[in-house]
Amino acid sequence: MCGIVGYIGDKSPVEVIMTGLHRLEYRGYDSSGVAVVGENGLDCVKSVGKLKIMDQKLEEHPLKGNLGIGHTRWATHGVPSEANSHPHFNGAKTIAVVHNGIIENYYELREQLQAAGVVFRSQTDTEVIAHLVDKYYEGDLFAAVKRALKDCEGAYAIGVICQDNPDVLVAARHGSPLIVGLGDNEGYIGSDVPAIMKYTRNVMYIENGHVCEITRAGVKIEDVDGNPVSMEVKTVEWDDAAAEKEGYPHFMLKEIHQQGAVLRNTLAGRIDEHSDSVRLTDMNIAPEELKACGKIFIVACGTAWHAGMVGKFLIEKFAKVPVELDLASEFRYRDPIIPPNSIMIPVSQSGETADTLEAIRIAKSRGAKVASIVNAVGSSVARESHGVVYQQAGPEIGVASTKAYTSQCMCFALFTIWLGQVRGTLDKDQVAMMIRELRAVPDKVDAILKNQDKVKELANRPEYRDAVGAFFLGRNYNFPSALEGALKLKEISYIHAEGYAAGEMKHGPIALVTNTFPVVCVAVKGETYEKMVSNIQEIKARAGLIISVATEGDESIQAHSNDVIYIPECYEPYSPILVAVPLQLLAYHISANLGRDVDQPRNLAKSVTVE
Ligand code: AGP
Repeated sequence: MCGIVGYIGDKSPVEVIMTGLHRLEYRGYDSSGVAVVGENGLDCVKSVGKLKIMDQKLEEHPLKGNLGIGHTRWATHGVPSEANSHPHFNGAKTIAVVHNGIIENYYELREQLQAAGVVFRSQTDTEVIAHLVDKYYEGDLFAAVKRALKDCEGAYAIGVICQDNPDVLVAARHGSPLIVGLGDNEGYIGSDVPAIMKYTRNVMYIENGHVCEITRAGVKIEDVDGNPVSMEVKTVEWDDAAAEKEGYPHFMLKEIHQQGAVLRNTLAGRIDEHSDSVRLTDMNIAPEELKACGKIFIVACGTAWHAGMVGKFLIEKFAKVPVELDLASEFRYRDPIIPPNSIMIPVSQSGETADTLEAIRIAKSRGAKVASIVNAVGSSVARESHGVVYQQAGPEIGVASTKAYTSQCMCFALFTIWLGQVRGTLDKDQVAMMIRELRAVPDKVDAILKNQDKVKELANRPEYRDAVGAFFLGRNYNFPSALEGALKLKEISYIHAEGYAAGEMKHGPIALVTNTFPVVCVAVKGETYEKMVSNIQEIKARAGLIISVATEGDESIQAHSNDVIYIPECYEPYSPILVAVPLQLLAYHISANLGRDVDQPRNLAKSVTVE
């Protein structure tokens, strides 16, 4: 996620902006920039790397004025570079824009603007906004921004300044967070509260579709059609630490709650509305390569490996390509046989996991085409792959992976649809249905997050909170859900938990079942539902303690379970994304109730960069 800060008033915009950007550093970034309107017009300084480099550059090249915007970039389109860092400008460099989000139709807009003679300086989606504002600008910046945003689809929080309007700071929001701060004869904008909290605690939480004209006198808010909007001014009570977590007690809980928005971002720009098809151009795999591919290798570690298992099930079911799934730490030592025309899909949130990197090198040395699913733009995994699918999930700070996992599963669903379409194993109707169901997933995740009472209640029940161990069981698509649920619980609560294929219980594990050993059973409606219910009954018959994860409306499951957590009806192949959320919350709340260090569990690192 990028960070934006803006200011209008008598203070030094650079001082306000850089203070704010430093407060947003926890969000992760790879470059930054500041633009100020001063007596000589619009001036700007940009820098790749850490903000301390930017501080140095600003010392050498001071920006003076009373109006400015700044940005820390977490790259989604275009590699980290000065050219791609924000602010972005119109052709005459009289208008500057900073942006957090993704303009989904930037490709079409860019083509239209280029056809009209616009020359682009960057590879970013953001730059189209600056040129659109310029296109509609006739002296009123507020009006031009409102008009420009009517052409844009996707998520944005933007700040816009113009050297010919030195008394106006314009900001707008759709999908990405934005706040406006009110001072005495001054105004602020920020991506979230920490950015401006040093200067004011009187803020407005801007809502989707609203555009703000901020002057020293105050704020005017309208929707893009010019209808006036009134907003309540709230007073921030948080301390600094709480502000970085936006009020959540831990980054992990914040990131669990981001998943609806994250999954929309993962989809953004990848589904072509008009042709009902998936577009993963950055994978750099030609359709001919997809058609010729005889085998796919998926390689990852930990949670990413669980996402890889979801990917295996989807690809084999719908694209009919055999998939070999490996733990990277095993792949690198088993002398893998990689046939010609093989594709490897490494999966890595950090893009720096040593075992996964080594697996990539082995696969490349044996002729495989490597296209990775990775969150960190410009990371080693991304650089050493032939192509990438960036998860667009924003930085994940909690050591326990949550939004990265569901985003990785979403990436595999996108890839599966594309692969099936190209290889002809999915017809137009199936593709349209799978895309429709995929687009419905983020709202279903939000619905789960709105209804957490049951999970919170279970997490405080001694029989679960104080358990010495637990099983997580699932079948088919939700076998990886069981593995992931177990990993979440064990890595942050320190309660030993094992994920198992439910059909395996009779082959040994059921010996452990007692009435003090909880068994979490994923029993959503689908191909293996009846089999799963049989497994649950076998455990219940042995006095098992069962929490079932089931589909809303399924009353019968209650007879076989001690407790049931419901999730919305869902297209079964995508259910691992939904199932992950209550299991993340269960692990989180049990761990928080036990007083664990949820964001930094003992012995763990966010990225395992050594063997
Ligand atoms: C997941 O909760 C863990 N933090 C860990 O298993 C992680 O998924 C694994 O280390 C892989 O990391 P990566 O995705 O950055 O490669």
